[in-house]
Parts: sequence; C-alpha cells; structure tokens
Amino acid sequence: MARRTIIAGNWKMNLLPDQAESLVMSLVAVTENKPDLEVVVFPPTALIPYAGEWVSGSSLQFGAQNCWHELSGAFTGETSPELLRALGCGYCLVGHSERREIFGESNDLIGLKTRALIQMKITPIICVGESLDEREAGTHLEKIKSQVESVFDAVEMSSWLRLVFAYEPIWAIGTGKTATPDQAEEIHRHIRDLIRERAGEALSEGISILYGGSAKPSNAAELLGKENIDGLLVGGASLKAEDFSNIISVF
Ligand code: PGA
Repeated sequence: MARRTIIAGNWKMNLLPDQAESLVMSLVAVTENKPDLEVVVFPPTALIPYAGEWVSGSSLQFGAQNCWHELSGAFTGETSPELLRALGCGYCLVGHSERREIFGESNDLIGLKTRALIQMKITPIICVGESLDEREAGTHLEKIKSQVESVFDAVEMSSWLRLVFAYEPIWAIGTGKTATPDQAEEIHRHIRDLIRERAGEALSEGISILYGGSAKPSNAAELLGKENIDGLLVGGASLKAEDFSNIISVF
C-alpha cells in the first residue's frame, strides 16, 4: 500500500498576518505539479481563517498546531476540532513535545485529542520522541512505545490508516542537531514494528511516519531517502520561503 508523503511546516507561535500571507504565496507556486506530495502549513490558530483564503485554488493545505478533545463546551481559550473542520483544516498536530513539556500534556490526553480529530475527519499528526537523557539512558525505544501505544489504545483500529506519526527527538528540535538518517530510520522502523505487532503488515506498511527536528534543505534528501521516512515536519526552516521551498523541491 502506498504511503502518503507529507512535507509539513510547523510555524509555532511565529509570523504576523502579512508575513504569513507572503510566505504562503511563495509556497503555492512551488507545490504545483507535485501530485504525489502533500505540503501542509500549520499557522498559529488565529491565522487559520485567513489560511483558507490564501491557499484557495492551490494544492497547498493547512492545519492547526493543537486542539482540545471535546467538540464544544466550557473550555475557555481552547479550540474545538469541529471548528477546525469548519474552517477547512485537513490536519492537526497532536502531542508536539512543546505541548507535552511546556503544557504538561499526557499520553492519555493526546489519545483523546487524536480520537476527536479522527471523528472530525481531520488527519492527526501525532508527535513522539525522546529527550537526550532518555536516549543516553537507553530508554528511548520504551518511551516511544508508550507514546505510540497510548494512541492505539484510544483509537479504533478501523481508523488507524488515517493516523500519521512524526518522530521528533526532543534533543534535535530547534537545536540545529539533526538525528542522523540512520538514527531516525531506526526509530521509524521501531514504530512500524509496533504497528505490525498490534495490527499486522498492511496497516504497518500503510501508515506514514514523518521525521522532525532541525530538518533543513541540506539534510532533507538524505532523510527522505530512508525506507521508512515518509516526509518531514519542519519547524525553523519552514518560516523561510527559500529553505522550505528547497525542501519541497527535493521531490
Ligand atoms: P525544528 O522544529 O525544525 O525547528 O527543529 C521541528 C518541530 O518542532 O516540529
């Protein structure tokens, strides 16, 4: 089964409306004529209503960086997956390490958010990854297993093909220190093995797994050349039209 190839740009809490619009305009041109590639930008929540207009008529897609797990109600300051759907979001990041570390999001909460997004037909990109301490202590595979399995526990297997995972080692995020293609490939294979153990070969081969953590034009081709790396989740380099375009142009 062919897996989706996705290049995603996580803008985090950056860019004002004018800057975001001109970045989107440059990307629209680069994403033309790439039918086998999905390019998705993740603007800050307040820019999402504009993003729909900016990308209209192009193949560029957009998503949200976060959401709550209930569809409506008394959750001051939160964003409903139902609202994201109504605004045209096709994707939502879940469990980014900044959400886990700064905002204390647990595996259980991330599982609930993933389930709500599936219900709203929004593709969740679930971020998993270990800290430097965990890697040095040799507990990184266990850490990733617990993160991945909590999603499996929350979502019915009949929907698993709609999941996308992103392996983002915390020590590589925003540090300029990328996992080597072999280090990344080892974890991607580990995630695929976990899927295979629970759900068999077809699902294991069908779910896309992206790499994130200091991905940039100079390392994109080598990372994407690995058998189990199906795309990139790009932070810093996605804020610069030239860098992000050069990453997209690897395809
Ligand atoms: P980075 O961020 O590319 O700046 O390391 C990636 C991410 O946090 O998704």
